[in-house]
Amino acid sequence: MNAALLFWIPAVLRLIILLFGATILGYFFGLVPGLIAALVAVISQLGLQLSYLYQLNSWLDEPTSAKLPDGWGAWTDVFSRLYRTRRLDEKNQAELAEWLARFRQAMHLLPDGVVIMDDVLFLEWCNPAAEKHLGLTLDRDKGMRVTNLVRSPDFMDYIILGRYERPLTLSFKERKLIVQIIPFESRRQILVTHDATDSDRIDMMRRDFIANASHELRTPLTVINGFLEIALGQDKLEPQTRIAHLKLMAEQGHRMQNLVGDMLTLSRLESVDYPMRSQHVKVPLLLESILREANALSSGRHTVTLETDGPDIKGNTEELRSAFGNLVSNAVRYTDSGGSIRIGWRMGVNGPQFSVQDTGIGILPENIARLTERFYRVDKSRSRETQGTGLGLAIVKHVLLRHGATLSIESAPSAGSTFTVQFAQGSLCDPAALPMAK
Ligand SMILES: Nc1ncnc2c1ncn2[C@@H]1O[C@H](COP(=O)(O)OP(=O)(O)OP(=O)(O)O)[C@@H](O)[C@H]1O
Ligand SMILES: [Mg+2]
Repeated sequence: MNAALLFWIPAVLRLIILLFGATILGYFFGLVPGLIAALVAVISQLGLQLSYLYQLNSWLDEPTSAKLPDGWGAWTDVFSRLYRTRRLDEKNQAELAEWLARFRQAMHLLPDGVVIMDDVLFLEWCNPAAEKHLGLTLDRDKGMRVTNLVRSPDFMDYIILGRYERPLTLSFKERKLIVQIIPFESRRQILVTHDATDSDRIDMMRRDFIANASHELRTPLTVINGFLEIALGQDKLEPQTRIAHLKLMAEQGHRMQNLVGDMLTLSRLESVDYPMRSQHVKVPLLLESILREANALSSGRHTVTLETDGPDIKGNTEELRSAFGNLVSNAVRYTDSGGSIRIGWRMGVNGPQFSVQDTGIGILPENIARLTERFYRVDKSRSRETQGTGLGLAIVKHVLLRHGATLSIESAPSAGSTFTVQFAQGSLCDPAALPMAK
């Protein structure tokens, strides 16, 4: 039925009944009591309506569905309809608040910065990443012009030119940022910022790596080419000279082979497509073969000892052979004749531990942190003398990373060095679970 009829019919009916009652009263008891009764009836109805009107007015101060009065007569319908509308509003508001909370959380977690500005670049809102990238503080800077906050001539030019279809690469507060303005709505714009400092650093490392590798390869190639030109230019070379040249060329060829081999090992170890094949590694047996190699490299110039009472572990035998072998060969190569090298494998409190201690030339504290960088050599001439490529400790670092182990270095010039590899307790071997390394 029509809502207006639903409201009016009960109200009018009620009034008619009351007036009818007053008329009957007047008929039996006279005009005056009848009129008084009619007046009382009208006033009581008016009072009732006014009281509900008052309740409605008070409710509007805090219009929650829980506080809505029940009502009587036509008011029941009014209040129940108000209740339904209010409940729907409350549900919509709750959903909206939930979406807003989710949106805020997403914006908080976003690694890219988002700044919302009006059409004349006044800051309205930004997320924490934008605060970090651009050095903003939303509470403090809200309402300020973004060009006054991001003081960079390149950014100013970008705004002036207005070529927003392309992003701008910006060096700002020691960061490399990629920023772009995206107009949205009719009077708003979004500024998006992306921190490219890390990828820029990786690019630089890649460029450095290529430059270093080319440089390392150029030296032996120059030597080989030089000798080849001499051989081509002279019909007859003294047999002794020829043999000496060939020897030097072979040496340089060997050097290039080592370098390329190490570079390939490094790139394989870094590759995500090259997962580690876990085996049961008999470390004591592995170290005995490394000891033999160390003695061969030393040719009796050093005292090399091995103490091993540590357990077998899980890992990759070939990778560990390369890492341990490198640390031991470094100890031999960077220790003068007469020095001693102690190789140890024991069970420490935090897990198995491998160590190589030498009485060699030692390393200055400022150089220690850089040792695992590719091509880093403290003394380039000495390393070259010993055929070093400077990639050994970078390979060690990657192998240990794959084994969840850490490398610590203690060293002082002329006092010798100790390289310690700490494996986790979890690397202990469960013999039944893993294949035995050959
Ligand atoms: N035991 C050590 N004592 C002194 N210096 C060392 C020792 N081990 C490494 N170094 C220094 O660290 C540098 C880097 O070592 P790394 O093993 O990476 O390269 P490398 O030995 O020169 O070449 P290779 O790639 O053939 O191992 C060495 O050039 C050397 O200067
Ligand atoms: Mg080395």
